[in-house]
Amino acid sequence: MRNFIHTSQPQRVVFGAGTLAHLAREIDALGARRALVLCTPEQRAQAQRVADMLGAQAAGIFDRAVMHVPIETAREARETARRLNADCAVAIGGGSTTGLGKAIALDSGLPILAIPTTYAGSEMTPIYGLTEGGLKKTGKDARVLPRTVIYDPELSRSLPVGLSVTSGINAIAHAAEGLYAQDSNPVMDLMAEEGIAALARALPAIRRSPDDIDARSDALYGAWLCGSVLGNVGMALHHKLCHTLGGSFNLPHAEVHTVVLPHAISYNAQAAPRAMQRIARALGCEDAALGLFELARANGAPTSLREIGMPGAELDRAADIAAANPYWNPRPIERDAIRALLQRAFDGDPPQ
Ligand SMILES: NC(=O)c1ccc[n+]([C@@H]2O[C@H](COP(=O)([O-])OP(=O)(O)OC[C@H]3O[C@@H](n4cnc5c(N)ncnc54)[C@H](O)[C@@H]3O)[C@@H](O)[C@H]2O)c1
Repeated sequence: MRNFIHTSQPQRVVFGAGTLAHLAREIDALGARRALVLCTPEQRAQAQRVADMLGAQAAGIFDRAVMHVPIETAREARETARRLNADCAVAIGGGSTTGLGKAIALDSGLPILAIPTTYAGSEMTPIYGLTEGGLKKTGKDARVLPRTVIYDPELSRSLPVGLSVTSGINAIAHAAEGLYAQDSNPVMDLMAEEGIAALARALPAIRRSPDDIDARSDALYGAWLCGSVLGNVGMALHHKLCHTLGGSFNLPHAEVHTVVLPHAISYNAQAAPRAMQRIARALGCEDAALGLFELARANGAPTSLREIGMPGAELDRAADIAAANPYWNPRPIERDAIRALLQRAFDGDPPQ
């Protein structure tokens, strides 16, 4: 066993179908009295339900969360929280809504209670992102880590099948890279493998039957585990590539992760054989990269960057950006090999 350091994150997790009913109790446990409910415009009805449940404990609803947390939206939400004397934020939604809660917490220290309805995993991390002048900056701050997370699989039943599959593979990406992280440890490895297995089991079942509460529970459990890995250990090439492609070319977050993952894992396969074994075992297949490609393909997810809007003429520039200031990676970052990887991902070829 190698030496390691693990810092536990101070968070309370309430998990299970119907647990949204305990929201008022959880707000009390935070010592809060006036919650500002955050959501996207698309999830206004879910947020209204939450506000209705809270009654006098709800300060109001801010329903303008959008992808990548533009600084203007963050400022408006912070101002709304101040004006309404909110003493906590309840973020109901995916990574975009949790991200808005984090932007408020970063500025004010307001505690966040997150109610995730996708599998992106932001609720388990102290990582925040803010976009200013078209540039997304990320940072780490303990203040933005949600204090309480309510995982109620009932709420993810409405997540469209396509987004369920890509969001689930987005979660798997955190665990897969966590398995070869420099600062990983045996407990994170266990969580990563279990998280991948839970999602690999859940996604085909959700595709067959989006209302299947057992499958939705498995997926959310997997998302929790994978999100915890993301919150605890460093990410590598795959996350760097997705950050580059999402940020510079405005490609949809979960879809980019889905398309790139098999190729990034293949790039690192020889440098991280133990991680590959664990990923393959969790997927129930022989080859980790091919198994991930097949998981996406068989469940109707996109497999090429072309189909999700990447301009082919920009692949050279994408390779340049990804190779500049790389994250730590088990295999050195070679610009030409990254360019070849991007070409395969663009064309939708299986990983090499
Ligand atoms: N900081 C972190 O640790 C971290 C981790 C993961 C993702 N992120 C960030 O999160 C963002 C992506 O989050 P995402 O993939 O969850 O997407 P998202 O939050 O943007 O949601 C996508 C769409 O799905 C809708 N939606 C969500 N749940 C739904 C449900 N149950 N039913 C119906 N519609 C639903 C949303 O309202 C939105 O319109 C990116 O900006 C990414 O950078 C951050």
